[in-house]
Amino acid sequence: MKLSLFLSKNSVNLNIDNHRKYNMKVFAFAGSNSSTSINKQLVKFVLKSFSDHEINLIDLNDYNMPIFSVDLEKNGFPEEAHRFLDNIAESDFIICSLAENNRSYSAAFKNVFDWASRINVKVFQDKPMLLMTTSPGGYGGGNVMAEALKFFPQFGAIIKESFSLPKFYENFDLNNGIINPEHLSTLNEKIDNFKKQLS
Ligand SMILES: Cc1cc2nc3c(=O)[nH]c(=O)nc-3n(C[C@H](O)[C@H](O)[C@H](O)COP(=O)(O)O)c2cc1C
Repeated sequence: MKLSLFLSKNSVNLNIDNHRKYNMKVFAFAGSNSSTSINKQLVKFVLKSFSDHEINLIDLNDYNMPIFSVDLEKNGFPEEAHRFLDNIAESDFIICSLAENNRSYSAAFKNVFDWASRINVKVFQDKPMLLMTTSPGGYGGGNVMAEALKFFPQFGAIIKESFSLPKFYENFDLNNGIINPEHLSTLNEKIDNFKKQLS
């Protein structure tokens, strides 16, 4: 099957039609290493709107590296950091949703980000990005969203659209995705706008 041969254990190629010609390549991830990540659930839901594209959804658990240190980097960079950057290089655009821990990035994402940034400070390599966050609280990861909106562009992200889903467990259903009509309508509008901005 296309792609699956080199995908690592937790990553998924959501496309199942081997013979289909896809439009573009999307690199997708949740900024979380939780096996029950709500951000990954949101990313998967959104990816259903991109089924005409080749999807590479990774799991940060496959990018498990020692905690970044200037001492360790003297010995070189982990293969995972290069692989994270290679995924981005091979993609046409990025869809991600960041978990908020203590008002900021999760440690799992920050570590990948730190390692990758030491190889290429333009981590996101000028790719268009649909940036999302969600959390169980009413702010929907608004703090990590604000941080990423402010700083991701300095690392090469071209953020075209952003979306935060508050109160995940009230507004999202595992089978049906977003069940709140207003949030769903807002998200769909943003997805449409994002698609229009992809060249
Ligand atoms: C250490 C820790 C800190 C957290 N801090 C925040 C926070 O600052 N803001 C917030 O909205 N949720 C916070 N949460 C709750 C997370 O949003 C929640 O665990 C969510 O499920 C994380 O996303 P994930 O499931 O994709 O990993 C925190 C959770 C943990 C474990």
